[in-house]
Amino acid sequence: MSQEYQTDILIVGAGAAGLTLALELANTYRVAIITKGEIHEGATLYAQGGVAAVLSDKDTVESHIKDTLIAGADLGDTNAIRFTVENSKESIDWLIDHGVPFTRFENGDSYHLTKEGGHSHRRIIHSADATGQAISKTLINNACSHPNITFFPNRVAIDLITTSKLKSHQIDANRCIGLYSLNLKTGEVDVFKAGRTVLATGGASKVYLYTSNPDTASGDGIAMAWRAGCRVANMEFNQFHPTCLYDSKAKTFLVSEAVRGEGGRLLLPDGTPFMKRFDSREELAPRDVVARAIDHEIKRLGVNHVLLDISHKSSDFIKEHFPTIYEKCLKYGYDITKEPIPVVPAAHYTCGGVLVDKYGKTDLQHLYAIGETSYTGLHGANRLASNSLLECIVYGRSAAKSILQQDVTLPFEKIPVWDDSRVTNSDEDVVITHNWHELRRFMWDYVGIVRTDKRLLRAKHRVDLLLSEIEEFYSNYKVSSDLLELRNLTVVANLIIQSAMTRKESRGLHFTLDHPELAQESSPTILRPH
Ligand code: FAD
Ligand code: SIN
Repeated sequence: MSQEYQTDILIVGAGAAGLTLALELANTYRVAIITKGEIHEGATLYAQGGVAAVLSDKDTVESHIKDTLIAGADLGDTNAIRFTVENSKESIDWLIDHGVPFTRFENGDSYHLTKEGGHSHRRIIHSADATGQAISKTLINNACSHPNITFFPNRVAIDLITTSKLKSHQIDANRCIGLYSLNLKTGEVDVFKAGRTVLATGGASKVYLYTSNPDTASGDGIAMAWRAGCRVANMEFNQFHPTCLYDSKAKTFLVSEAVRGEGGRLLLPDGTPFMKRFDSREELAPRDVVARAIDHEIKRLGVNHVLLDISHKSSDFIKEHFPTIYEKCLKYGYDITKEPIPVVPAAHYTCGGVLVDKYGKTDLQHLYAIGETSYTGLHGANRLASNSLLECIVYGRSAAKSILQQDVTLPFEKIPVWDDSRVTNSDEDVVITHNWHELRRFMWDYVGIVRTDKRLLRAKHRVDLLLSEIEEFYSNYKVSSDLLELRNLTVVANLIIQSAMTRKESRGLHFTLDHPELAQESSPTILRPH
């Protein structure tokens, strides 16, 4: 039997963004958090390097703002950047107050700050090389012990429920009043009715064949908001992390940029350093530059990977700063204290997303989007390393401030139960698996690190075909989590391709051989549903 749940605040996602918001609201409201897998699973858990913030006397807000703008190839929104950076110290204090164990110097006096590409100062606060795990565990523990927060794991949000879609007479402006979600344990589709709904669903990097992201990153929030009529922005800017371990068993394990921040060198397979040929900042150039340089060398030499070497540092230093990376690489047969390791770029971060204001408000009343699923304007054409977790905390807190000033009541509308009386169980799941592989393969080949007009057009033809095939499948068969993810990934792929086709220049993460120059004037790509 399908259920109806009612809550003041419904948050989809328990990453850094969703958890921050939940903890800020729970003293005032009943908060429900749904997650599509187990509670902890999501990109936050795997974050390594840390959180960027202005914490040192030698650093300044202006310098962090400048680095963010430069990394974003001047497409970042200066108001959003200033807002985020000015709130960075408070956000770190908030994490520390909640108990996140950031790494301190040996004497215990102050926190150790590391460096990553594009930063002109040491400003990355971290928990060794497993910062995400420290944040995730700490915030989940806090949330689990709060009486007003209830977790609903293994629930896949399907679609938002808006008043305009209800048959009853529409009096007010269109509003979001909750969503339908698939309960993976019972197979039923339940209704979650809520005063405010918040998408904190993470990014969409799984749209690419090779990714550093966990399976949750299928762009569900972006696709749901788009279907509900919200604008999305800058979807052409997909960040590829330069250094994921290249090993058939490792499934693109990330090797943190902090390794290069602490002196790691990139080498060709014969041991020759090469970054100097591409950028004077060498290994610490912004990610788009480093990823493109590696991609160029891999294609030029016809090799499968390049090498990353930190073995010139002492074994003690490496084990202290990078214990997770050291252990993980050792498991796959590489001792990073003694030898270079094979690395390749992989899809890592979705810079675009659901367009929001500085409180995370979307175009649809009573719907918010925070974290990687949103587009705040912070990242512009490329995200500065470690600005993402910062954005999750800053906007999680500002969305909470906005919601706390409102009168949140339960929607009065009656929501119809999910009607699956006219659909059957699929007898052809091969359609899902086939289309899944096809989509991720052509996105990698045609809409990846280096693009051309022709490749984008090829991708557009294919995605149009998939969209109609999947919509037909969706209308005729019962929903499953694979089908829902594929449907969302295809919508997101289409948004990426459309945005990339619109941008006739190369800027930040969008690099095309047909328009290699920077346009003199440029603005974010904003798509509006018809
Ligand atoms: P996530 O943490 O991804 O959480 C998404 C949540 O949404 C999950 O709970 C998931 O179950 C849920 N969800 C998704 N779809 C649905 C659905 N349909 N129904 C129900 N629930 C759903 N950033 C930094 O700033 N510093 C770093 O050092 C860093 N390192 C990284 C290393 C790796 C390997 C990766 C992958 C990313 C890294 N990033 C880093 C990026 C950063 O981790 C993410 O951008 C950030 O954690 C996103 O947080 P989030 O709360 O937006 O989403
Ligand atoms: C890393 O540790 O290299 C990831 C940092 C980030 O994605 O911001």
